[in-house]
Amino acid sequence: MIANYYNFSIMCYAIPGKIVEINSRFAVVDYFGEKRNVLNDEQPIKIGDYVYAQGGILVDKVETKEAIKILEFWKRQFFELKKIDRNLSQKAGKQKIEQNTLSLFQKINRSQELSNQEALTLLSLSNRKELELLYKMANNIRQKNNDNACCVHGIIEFSNCCANNCFYCGIRKNLKISRFRMSPEEIINTAQIAVEKYGFKALVLQSGEDPYYTEKILELIIKKIRAMGVLIFLSIGVRDASEYESFYKAGARAILLRFETSNKKIFKRLRPNTSFEKRIKLIKKLKKIGYLIATGFLIGLPDETNQDIINNIILTKKLEADMYSFGPLIPAGGTPLGRQKTADIDLVLKTIALTRIIDHEAKILVTTALETLGTNAKKRGLLAGANSLMLNVTPSIFRKKYAIYPGRPDRNKGIEKNIKSTVNLLYSIGRAPTDLGI
Ligand code: 5AD
Ligand code: SF4
Repeated sequence: MIANYYNFSIMCYAIPGKIVEINSRFAVVDYFGEKRNVLNDEQPIKIGDYVYAQGGILVDKVETKEAIKILEFWKRQFFELKKIDRNLSQKAGKQKIEQNTLSLFQKINRSQELSNQEALTLLSLSNRKELELLYKMANNIRQKNNDNACCVHGIIEFSNCCANNCFYCGIRKNLKISRFRMSPEEIINTAQIAVEKYGFKALVLQSGEDPYYTEKILELIIKKIRAMGVLIFLSIGVRDASEYESFYKAGARAILLRFETSNKKIFKRLRPNTSFEKRIKLIKKLKKIGYLIATGFLIGLPDETNQDIINNIILTKKLEADMYSFGPLIPAGGTPLGRQKTADIDLVLKTIALTRIIDHEAKILVTTALETLGTNAKKRGLLAGANSLMLNVTPSIFRKKYAIYPGRPDRNKGIEKNIKSTVNLLYSIGRAPTDLGI
C-alpha cells in the first residue's frame, strides 16, 4: 500500500516498528529503542519485518523501504514531541490551597489508593485553582505511565436506524427523523478512503442496533476492511454472542459498547426493553472471545449522583476495559430527556482526572460529546488525563443525519480540516497521534 504520509504528511496514526523477537502468538516490536509486546494471530512474520500495531495487536506489515522513509520522518518528531509533553505535564509547584484538598492531592502524588469518600470529595471540587491542579496531576500520571502516544481512531457511522428507544438518544426508534443506511459498498469505500487517503490504522464501525445488517453482511464488510490492514472496532450494540464470534473470525478485534450507567434503576427507566444484566454479560463474553473492549457511561443522566459516577468508573475498570469511553449527555430535542440540563464541562474533566487517578494505565477517550461543551474541550480533556480520540470519517451527507445529540462540532466540518486541526492540536501539546501498541 502507498504510504499516505507522502501526500498527507502530518497524518501518521501509527509508527512502523521492527520485530525483534517472536514468542508464538506474541512479538516484541522496537520503536526507536522502546520495546512493546504485540499480539499476532494472523500474519506470517519474521524477525526484522516492519509492522504496524494498534491497541497491542499487529494489524499490518510494511515494506522495509517504506517503513524506513516513514521512520525518517518520525525520528525528529518522536523525541521532540515527548519533550513538549514532558514539559507540559510537569507537576505544579507549591500552591496555596485548602489543607484538606492539599492532603488529598499529596495522597494522589504518592499514588495511594483513594477511599470512596476521597473520590467523592474530588468530584465535588469547584475552586478553579484546585481544579486546575487536579487536572495537572492527572496529566502528570498519564505522562508517567503512558507517555505521549494518543490513539486516533477513525469512526464511520453507517446507519442511524435503531430498534431501541433510549430516552436520551436523538436517533431512537420513536423519533420521526430522516433515516439512512449505508450500503456495504459505501461502507467499504469510506473505509478505503480513511485508510489510504487519511492513514487511519484503526476504524470504528458504528450504527444503531440495526438488524438490517445481518451476520453475513457484516462479516463481508469486516473481511474487506480487515484486508486493508486496520484494527476494526464494532459499535453496533447488543447482538448474539455467536454473531460476535463470527465477526471476530472475520477479523474484527475490538468492541465499543457502553454499559451507559451502572445504576440499574436509571438504566431500566431510560432504556426500555433492554437489560443491564444482559449487556454486562455480553461485554464480559466479548472480552473472553478476545476482543479489546471500550466501554463506559453517560454523565449527567437525571437522578445521577457523584456516587454513580464513581461506581461507573469502578465498573469500567472491573470489566477490564482496554479503553474508557464516557461523555456528557447532550439533551436531544424531541427525546424524553430533551429538557435535561447538560452536564458541566468540569464534571466531565473531573471524571477524566479521577479515572486516570484510579486507573493509571488506562486509555481514556475524549468523546465528541465532550467537545460540544466548549471550543477548547478536546485540549482540556487531553490535559486532564485523556489519551485517545476518534475522528469522524463518515461522508457528510450521512454524518449530518447521525444526530444522536445536537451541536456536534464535527457535523459540518470537512473531514480533512478536522483531521488537520486535531493533529495540529496533538502536536502543539506534544502528543504523537499514534498508537504504540501498548
Ligand atoms: N448525548 C450524549 N451521548 C449520547 N449517546 C446517546 N444519546 C446521547 C446524547 N443525547 C451515546 C450513548 C451511546 C453512544 C453511541 O452515544 O452513550 O452508547
Ligand atoms: Fe439505539 Fe444506541 Fe440510541 Fe439507544 S443510544 S436508541 S441503542 S443508537
